[in-house]
Amino acid sequence: MSKQRVLSGVQPTGNLHLGNYLGAIRNWVEIQQDYDSFFCVVDLHAITVPHNPKTLAEDTYKIAALYLACGIDLQYSTIFVQSHVTAHSELTWLLNCITPLNWLERMIQFKEKAVKQGENVSVGLLDYPVLMAADILLYNADKVPVGEDQKQHLELTRDIAVRVNDKFGTKKTPVLKMPDPMIAKEGARVMSLTDGTSKMSKSDPSEMSRINLLDTPDSISKKIKRCKTDLVKGLTFDDSERPECNNLLTLYLLLSNKTKEEVTAECQDMGWGQFKPLLTETTITALKPIQDKYYEIMDDRGYLQSVLREGRRKAETVANETLSRVKNALGYLPLF
Ligand code: AMP
Ligand code: TRP
Repeated sequence: MSKQRVLSGVQPTGNLHLGNYLGAIRNWVEIQQDYDSFFCVVDLHAITVPHNPKTLAEDTYKIAALYLACGIDLQYSTIFVQSHVTAHSELTWLLNCITPLNWLERMIQFKEKAVKQGENVSVGLLDYPVLMAADILLYNADKVPVGEDQKQHLELTRDIAVRVNDKFGTKKTPVLKMPDPMIAKEGARVMSLTDGTSKMSKSDPSEMSRINLLDTPDSISKKIKRCKTDLVKGLTFDDSERPECNNLLTLYLLLSNKTKEEVTAECQDMGWGQFKPLLTETTITALKPIQDKYYEIMDDRGYLQSVLREGRRKAETVANETLSRVKNALGYLPLF
């Protein structure tokens, strides 16, 4: 039996932080052997809010290098750039025309981001989830490993697939494959260091709110030293009453590879003065091998380009096949 397919992606905007790593990329690394895995750098999504053309290409390289540095293995996985496979844009158009406007207006992420953009909300920002649906559906993905914040976009993707299948397919020969979200139990929602009730995010204006994968030991140490805590004695996992404590313990659990029971036993009698240096050391140690590998890869542009060239070739084969299937189902005049 052939392996199930996985597809996921990250935008080349800003620095990757612990939320991106623990919520998404680390899980990709863990599951990649069991699936036929495709991971893209979603650079078309990156221009849905105003972007800097001077840094887009370099940021795209950076994310691809971080995928490799975090442990994405080309023996199991394909890494490619979304804009290199034109089928993504083309399928988006076709899906646009069957997606009701009010499905998009309901998206939480759109509403949140639109507020931040003020007068300057692009049609692309509203259309963002349809492009994401195209990403997923083009590869007939069975599973989509993402953080909790993407759940609604996955539901929309499924709704779009159902609609295409109902309108243009038959029960026996559906046009599109139905994907399932894959959301990790822990790390799916890493919270801000300065506010345990809001998620760690690239767009938070405060650098102190997040630890980036490429932060220096000094900077990691400073951020953890100043991060928000509470006045309760002893450290416990408690999402509702102690969001900061819960978040920091979860970070420690994930970065040290310990179980919840181990961390509970180790930290229940600790104070912050004892825990913070421990978390700092653990974070620095966990990120060091990723950082070393990242700088090595970024220094070898030729290698990185060869990875993305080969990735594009593999991705295009799968994507173009799906695109043809959809165009046929919609009744387009085929090429002749
Ligand atoms: P983005 O940075 O928006 O391109 O997100 C890339 C991936 O990281 C997606 O799968 C998100 O769900 C995940 N992600 C982003 N922020 C967090 C967070 N604070 N906690 C967990 N996962 C996150
Ligand atoms: N919207 C996702 C995010 O911000 C990124 C993304 C784009 C994605 N296309 C995708 C994730 C396809 C999974 C599958 O996190």
